[in-house]
Amino acid sequence: LNTSLSRDEKLLTICQLLSDSVSYYNWVGFYFANHESKTLHLGPYVGAETDHTVIPFGKGICGQVAESNANFVVPDVAAQDNYIACSFTVKSEIVVPLFVDGKNIGQIDIDSHVINPFTADDERFLEFVCAEIANLF
Ligand code: SME
Repeated sequence: LNTSLSRDEKLLTICQLLSDSVSYYNWVGFYFANHESKTLHLGPYVGAETDHTVIPFGKGICGQVAESNANFVVPDVAAQDNYIACSFTVKSEIVVPLFVDGKNIGQIDIDSHVINPFTADDERFLEFVCAEIANLF
């Protein structure tokens, strides 16, 4: 990617590429952790506007990944108790943490309008994307 772009512009480009490339990637965005206030903050994204610009650690799928440091695949959001709904069109979600020097600094969050679309291939692919993105930090 062109190095004259800012990091946020690069992240936005990645969101756009992902959402254009995979039919069931319907909202693609980043959240970044503030480890002092234990909150996640919305970064670049493509898709429907969301009210959830700040998410406390532990809350929702994203907040749980901030604490677990592990991928979270949700085949059906209706079956989740600790879930923050952004839109009724969202049926499933995948969140993959972003590690920089071994520290979980944030995550990529993808919402889908279909039920149960995410496979182990999505996890491996998004882990690879996150590992590449780590080089921007
Ligand atoms: N559904 C997420 C909230 C963020 S939106 O998907 C953009 C959650 O439960 O953490």
